[in-house]
Amino acid sequence: MPFTPARPDPSQPTVRINLLSDTQTRPTAAMRAAMASAEVGDEQVGDDPTVNSLCDRVADLLGKEAAVFMPSGTMCNVAGLLVHCRPGDEILAHRTAHILSREGGTHAALGGFQITGLDGADGKFTPDTLRSALHPRTRYEAAQTVVSVEQTANIGGGTIWSKTDLDAIVTIARDRSLATHMDGARLLNACVATGIGARKMSDGWDSVWIDFSKGLGAPVGAVLAGTRDYIDAVWRWKQGLGGSMRQAGIVAAACIHALDHHVERLADDHANARMLASGLAQINGVVVQQPETNLVFFDPAGAGISGADMVKALRAKGVLLATMDGRIRACTHLDVTAEMIEETLGLVRDIVRSV
Ligand SMILES: Cc1ncc(COP(=O)(O)O)c(C=O)c1O
Repeated sequence: MPFTPARPDPSQPTVRINLLSDTQTRPTAAMRAAMASAEVGDEQVGDDPTVNSLCDRVADLLGKEAAVFMPSGTMCNVAGLLVHCRPGDEILAHRTAHILSREGGTHAALGGFQITGLDGADGKFTPDTLRSALHPRTRYEAAQTVVSVEQTANIGGGTIWSKTDLDAIVTIARDRSLATHMDGARLLNACVATGIGARKMSDGWDSVWIDFSKGLGAPVGAVLAGTRDYIDAVWRWKQGLGGSMRQAGIVAAACIHALDHHVERLADDHANARMLASGLAQINGVVVQQPETNLVFFDPAGAGISGADMVKALRAKGVLLATMDGRIRACTHLDVTAEMIEETLGLVRDIVRSV
């Protein structure tokens, strides 16, 4: 059966409130101006000054030797893990991790390695769970070579790995000679929410990346950081996967603009998420996970309407969101205001009242 991506349905009203994902942001006028005036060169040969300056800046932000600009976070995970692993190896990650559930089996297809999903509440496994999943190297079992975490954990609810657990995982990994990989699609959300800097949060992690096309509001781009040798090896996969670009400074300028203007404001998204969650929690029968960052997961089934029907009813009123792994996910971002949250809450209340 062919895979059919969701396309806008012309019979539906225009989307006025877009809570589907933080990937839905449109570049601001100031971001577009920064893009228009970007100095550019040929990224593939290392000659684009804006890309180079973005990579230097992210390497410094994350406390790593070097960094590479990628078209997407998915390519950071794929290329980054291809460097860490050999065919037959095993990666340990939470069972809801993007690398396991959303990357099309590419790690197995290209790298011939497997990802084992660990259990744990809210998208996170504990250091003890990791310890008990480790086994000595034998000729019978896959060689465990990498442990990977998602900061924040998307399907877990945008939840934050504590610095204590991150440090404990690094200690266990080092003790067992495992590489450590951090999918930082929303790392800066975790940093803004906790007040812990990105360098400290990624301290001890061998490979770490941040995404610019999510809460940071850029149209494209992610940057993966690590040691110079590691990034050189990632470049080989980037080239092979078709991820090398040309005058990519146009988009790197948007990312630099985002670092300058869109990081601290993530706190606004978190406040809007809390407002949405507390309003939803007051509706009888709606079960809401308290948000730690910009993702709000809720289930209206107890109020007499399924998640799928609630999504449909809201869509008919111009509000876009979706179900994800059995619950509704609402995502706050640059293009979502407090007024939009108020309006959404009013609509949810009306819909619940009408069932
Ligand atoms: C946790 C996590 N990792 C990786 C990705 C992939 O990022 P991209 O969409 O830039 O490929 C996503 C995207 O939603 C994500 O949520």
